[in-house]
Amino acid sequence: MVDRRDFLRLSALSSAAALAGCATAAADKEGPSLPARKLNAPVVISTWDFGKAANASAWGVLVGSGSALDAVEAGARVPEADPGNQSVGYGGRPDRDGRVTLDACIMDAKGRCGSVAALEQVMHAVSVARAVMEKTPHVMLVGDGALQFALANGFEKQELLTEQSRMEWEEWLKTAHYAPVRNIENSTPGNAKDHDTIGILALDATGDLAGACTTSGMAYKLHGRVGDSPIIGAGLFVDNEVGAATSTGVGEEVVRIAGSHTVVELMRQGFAPEEACKAALERAVRRDPAYAKSIQVGFLALRRDGAIGAYAMQEGFTYAVKSGSREELVAAKHIF
Ligand code: GLY
Repeated sequence: MVDRRDFLRLSALSSAAALAGCATAAADKEGPSLPARKLNAPVVISTWDFGKAANASAWGVLVGSGSALDAVEAGARVPEADPGNQSVGYGGRPDRDGRVTLDACIMDAKGRCGSVAALEQVMHAVSVARAVMEKTPHVMLVGDGALQFALANGFEKQELLTEQSRMEWEEWLKTAHYAPVRNIENSTPGNAKDHDTIGILALDATGDLAGACTTSGMAYKLHGRVGDSPIIGAGLFVDNEVGAATSTGVGEEVVRIAGSHTVVELMRQGFAPEEACKAALERAVRRDPAYAKSIQVGFLALRRDGAIGAYAMQEGFTYAVKSGSREELVAAKHIF
């Protein structure tokens, strides 16, 4: 449902497009015209504080005239390899059975995409997702199928459960009655709302966009649970005509609103990146206000001209920005 404010905004946009005859060079086939590409390129943005290290790696690719696709893969691999990051890759918190299962996806400027879900024992899930995209006719492989594919394509098998994550899981087992708890990561002392999935979006010097998303998912989840991160349109979406978006937080709610696709479509309608992220979250709030208030979800968006924006349900969501003129961590605005 479109609220009155959105309705007025959309009416105004439609009228403006009609007056302009929808004939500007930058206009898409559908929706109003968007700003021209490449006003601010290259640029890379990533979710959370640890996005800064990911951006540094991606930036090295971008300034070497590398593609946005290579950049986001290089960036996503950084937290995947960091045992200190307990929400992504190696060192990630396990499911309730003590198994680390990874979800990841990647998408490029041509709309090509690949994804893996519930992948075990392979650190670089994002690179396996890229291999799915490039070496198979499919989009998504899951579980043992994803593992067998990875091993057949040269990826190494290794234990992803670190001593730290194993100890915390054993502590959790003592009182948890084996029941997954929403937002359990945020109740860990010293980790208040400061970590989750990495989503990374880049615009390269040629004006192409790409994105990647990778996570170990919700801590102590049911074995087999898959979140938003490997689902194209939920955890990540890239449309080179418009922009790209990615998400972090409670994946189930992001899936319910096809979150990242929603953000991109709102940008297509003329919403600025930050407004688009906020409007997508408001859909979740309208669906169930009390529930929305109890969870963290954040969206991050990069428009095709390099404009960026983010919004979160709760305080605490940060994102890292790197461009030729800017390198900073930004605290996203929030609804509650
Ligand atoms: N956003 C990560 C997850 O819910 O798995």
